Amino acid sequence: MGLFRDQPYLIREQEPLAEGAVLLRGYAADQANVLWDALTKILDTAPFRHMFTPGGFRMSVAMTNCGDAGWISDRSGYRYAPLDPVTGLHWPEIPASFQSVSTGAAVLAGYAGFEPDVCLVNRYEPGARLTLHQDKDERDFTQPIVSVSLGLPAVFLFGTTTRRDRPRRIRLESGDVAVWGGTSRMAYHGIAPLADGEHPLTGRSRINLTFRKAL
Ligand code: SIN
Ligand code: FE2
Repeated sequence: MGLFRDQPYLIREQEPLAEGAVLLRGYAADQANVLWDALTKILDTAPFRHMFTPGGFRMSVAMTNCGDAGWISDRSGYRYAPLDPVTGLHWPEIPASFQSVSTGAAVLAGYAGFEPDVCLVNRYEPGARLTLHQDKDERDFTQPIVSVSLGLPAVFLFGTTTRRDRPRRIRLESGDVAVWGGTSRMAYHGIAPLADGEHPLTGRSRINLTFRKAL
């Protein structure tokens, strides 16, 4: 466990997950309100929606994006799209508060120079889940994934680069930031079905911000 009392954000501990992967517990906790306020503005332009998998299943997680492109899924596949297919508009810009949390966490995790150009926003309501997957729609796999949790706690499944290896189960709470890159960049990961609850910031939901260099 490492303490980072001289850092600009309140940090409780740094927990290695695997080579190249770390959990920064509480890293974004003192920014949670600011991030939430910025998110409400994003939603005015790009509301949450449930996308469909290429196989035709409605995803239980509601999603939106900000940045130069947005991750979308539909019958023709997964990809980054420069325009929001629901509105026909550009996705909102990544707010400064989002940028600083994501780049700060990346630096602490050993990925100085990370400059995200997209941010996928996931909303989990009780029962919603994300099955094990790899993030592989990005162009540059030398860049890490930075994932910020807000609201209700969740069980993060974090495996290896081999799908059949049983994933670790890690509790993520509001303000926790997970970063994975290097030899863990292609680690399988997911979220177990969200338990019901009520959170003072987000109500009956969990929000996840996933920052990537995608383009
Ligand atoms: C993701 O894999 O895109 C999201 C993970 C999470 O919600 O923590
Ligand atoms: Fe992912």
